[in-house]
Amino acid sequence: MLNGISIRRCTRDELGIVMSINEKTLPENYPQFFYESIIERFPESFLVAEDLQTNQIVGYVMFRIERNLESGLKFIKKGHLVSIAVLKEYQGRKIGENMLIEGMKQVKNYGIDFYVLEVRLSNTIAISLYKKLKFIIEKTIPEYYRDGEDAYYMTLKVSNFEPDGI
Ligand SMILES: CC(C)(COP(=O)(O)OP(=O)(O)OC[C@H]1O[C@@H](n2cnc3c(N)ncnc32)[C@H](O)[C@@H]1OP(=O)(O)O)[C@@H](O)C(=O)NCCC(=O)NCCS
Repeated sequence: MLNGISIRRCTRDELGIVMSINEKTLPENYPQFFYESIIERFPESFLVAEDLQTNQIVGYVMFRIERNLESGLKFIKKGHLVSIAVLKEYQGRKIGENMLIEGMKQVKNYGIDFYVLEVRLSNTIAISLYKKLKFIIEKTIPEYYRDGEDAYYMTLKVSNFEPDGI
């Protein structure tokens, strides 16, 4: 446990709280059915952080699994970080890092080859977190976001994920 914070699976009842944290912290928001489909299909890696003193949910992380046909006829299975956020007043306390590491451990159980994510070029805090976990910038995706901002597409081979070395 992390200083009175518990990181555990999200329940369906908590999706409304997760949506409100997303809306407070990120410009990328999703309809309720999107969260429902992620929790239905990939429940093991949909996690929340709970403040055990107040029982408040203060952060979440969610992944989905994708299969892509790469060069040749080989399918690559990817654990795609869909979204991660921590309430502002709880940021900087290692909650994001611990949630992400735990989520990555869980999503590995789906038999993936790579972790992948997109992040705004201006989001230096998140980029720093991903680099700390050994993600590399594979490419820039121009105008990925609705407002026209570019994204970095960052990846990490599962075999290079070393949670104990962080
Ligand atoms: C990104 C986010 C999830 C990080 O969570 P957090 O709990 O605040 O971060 P942590 O305390 O776990 O910090 C882990 C690492 O993140 C980076 N980081 C965190 N705060 C930082 C800051 N103020 N400045 C620079 N880097 C920072 C550092 O690499 C840090 O490791 P270090 O402490 O060893 O330097 C959080 O800032 C957040 O919710 N941001 C808004 C939503 C968002 O941008 N999500 C990502 C979308 S791609």
